[in-house]
Amino acid sequence: MYRIDIITLFPDTVGDVLSESILGRAQERDYLRIEAHQLRDYTVNKQKQVDDYPYGGGHGAVLQADPLYRCWEHLCRQAEGKPRTIYLSPCGKTFTQADARRLAWEEEHLILVCGHYEGIDQRFIDECVDEEISIGDFVLTGGEIAAMAVADAVSRLVPGVLSDPACFENESHWNGLLEYPQYSRPEVWHGRAVPPELLTGDHAKVERWRRKQSLLRTRQRRPDLYERLDLSSREDQKLLAELERELSRPILPRPVECRPAAEGDVPTIVEIIAQARAWMDANGIDQWTEEYPAAADYRNDMAQGECYVLTCGGQVGAVFTLYARPEESYAAITDGKWGGGTEPYASIHRCAVAEQWRGSGLAGEMAAAWEELARGMGLSWLRIDTHKKNKAMLGLLRKSGFQYRGNVLVGAQPPHDPRRVAYEKKLKGVGQR
Ligand SMILES: C[S@@+](CC[C@H](N)C(=O)[O-])C[C@H]1O[C@@H](n2cnc3c(N)ncnc32)[C@H](O)[C@@H]1O
Repeated sequence: MYRIDIITLFPDTVGDVLSESILGRAQERDYLRIEAHQLRDYTVNKQKQVDDYPYGGGHGAVLQADPLYRCWEHLCRQAEGKPRTIYLSPCGKTFTQADARRLAWEEEHLILVCGHYEGIDQRFIDECVDEEISIGDFVLTGGEIAAMAVADAVSRLVPGVLSDPACFENESHWNGLLEYPQYSRPEVWHGRAVPPELLTGDHAKVERWRRKQSLLRTRQRRPDLYERLDLSSREDQKLLAELERELSRPILPRPVECRPAAEGDVPTIVEIIAQARAWMDANGIDQWTEEYPAAADYRNDMAQGECYVLTCGGQVGAVFTLYARPEESYAAITDGKWGGGTEPYASIHRCAVAEQWRGSGLAGEMAAAWEELARGMGLSWLRIDTHKKNKAMLGLLRKSGFQYRGNVLVGAQPPHDPRRVAYEKKLKGVGQR
């Protein structure tokens, strides 16, 4: 059984705290014994005085060496082996999880000495103390809180105290990392949702998400710890590259709202389209031409009530057109077929996100807006086409749950490429009560 004896002027306080919950149960099951000893019981004077003035003058009092020694000697005499004696002191080495592990696994018996007032007589430290531990760069009134912190951190690592070593092996500071964020029920609280990765039921995905969050937290909050990590594994390198990309993303101003486009939006729409066209040119994507889409196409869409913009923080950041009527070029599909057959559907055209919001998640918000509009119209299928080289759009479609259905031809004239890949998404629950 692991033993911790605490020498203190306030044994009741210490005993009460350390006999609750997990440590209390561990003591009941004899994995552990923690006892606090009243220093005054080891005095030889009637007044039970344990302190006196400091030699050389100054404020306060100092705990005398003799009562400390008597108590310590009594505990050592009763001990089976040689206990390790620790004085809790702001002058000690700062306590870490590695110290807790060392003391739990390499020792069997600790004597924790709590100072008070100005501290304790140095001669007791020189003669009896093996190490001095501080719990941080601040000064407490007495060593009790520090002793309780050390006793608690050590005890929970003593074999048998926690049911499974995994309980502490995943915790902050075990392997140099801070722990990932934790969530419990309900799934949404005050409008804040649990990260979707934790709801997948896919153990590998959950572990990957947790490692990534741990890396991120450690990097942001404790660069000193982060610097010392070995992140050379392939998996960590991949996670770091992902984090790098995510951290360099622009932060989308809120709220993000979808509304029908108006004439006043046309100049911004034209600019967004010019940016998208330049991006396609730079990436060798022969999807939009010099003439298409033009301001006139969007004005025409607006007149039909089919053009929408997404605003973020009040500024137009994306544009798209949604038809709730059959799209001519989708009638003939090759190398596959539409899942919705002849059922009514909505189709998306001429969509683009402003350059400054690329990678910000606005495209995903736009895809959600398509769905919401189509649902609102009672349509359970969404269709869209894109150029096979348009990786950004293909990525968005896959991420948003669209499926490849086949190939279609659009009205592009030579020398432009009229071939497009066709995608479709079934909107669940539409029309159901
Ligand atoms: C008021 S303090 C004495 C501080 C001492 N005069 C000094 O300046 O270093 C009284 C006792 O509280 C405990 N203590 C205070 N701060 C501590 C810390 N950061 N870590 C561990 N023990 C601490 C020590 O046992 C100390 O003897």
